[in-house]
Amino acid sequence: MSGAEVDVRQELPKPHTSNFVRSMLRQPLKVGALSPSSRHLANTLVRGMKPGSRVIELGAGTGAVTRAILDAGVRPGDLTLIEQNEEFAALLEKQFPDSNVVRANAVSLRRYLDPDAEPVDFVVSGLPLLLFPERTKLRILSQVFKSLREDGCLYQFTYGIGCPINRSTLKILGLKASLIDITMRNFPPAFTYRITRA
Ligand SMILES: C[S@@+](CC[C@H](N)C(=O)[O-])C[C@H]1O[C@@H](n2cnc3c(N)ncnc32)[C@H](O)[C@@H]1O
Repeated sequence: MSGAEVDVRQELPKPHTSNFVRSMLRQPLKVGALSPSSRHLANTLVRGMKPGSRVIELGAGTGAVTRAILDAGVRPGDLTLIEQNEEFAALLEKQFPDSNVVRANAVSLRRYLDPDAEPVDFVVSGLPLLLFPERTKLRILSQVFKSLREDGCLYQFTYGIGCPINRSTLKILGLKASLIDITMRNFPPAFTYRITRA
């Protein structure tokens, strides 16, 4: 392969961007992004993860963050991926056959988890919470924190300025949110929050 060919390939869009654009055009309020997360954003979302960490990823999309979770050393069998879009879920199953891929709405998260399983250490969410009614966020968050160990945390990214979860919702659930990163090298730039028990 010539040097010129290599250069041209490097200019090509990120893998799976076309899946995103297609799904976004069909279901904009459900997908909530035009492009998979960048590696820079994904690296922020895996802080603290290591071999032995148990992780749930909500709205895993085409697997951009999933790859970073596994690269952080998380064992595939310790990772559960929740994705409601059929096309994305099929892609995830193909790419991550040793992880638990669940085609489901995150609003019913607990229904799909083993009730006897150990609580997880991290939940990573790419769900477009800004598009969700507050009562839906409350329902999802309450299930997330039932699934997390006492000192576990939820990483949530958003494209809006400000935490995508209202203060009243955080208060009802006894949670606090801290902005931990602003990733400019992402389209669009993203804000990452770390949400823990208060
Ligand atoms: C902003 S994209 C993020 C995708 C991926 N995590 C990334 O960072 O590239 C949001 C994803 O959440 C999924 N999603 C939206 N609402 C959902 C829900 N209620 N339950 C499960 N997945 C959902 C969408 O299909 C989409 O894949």
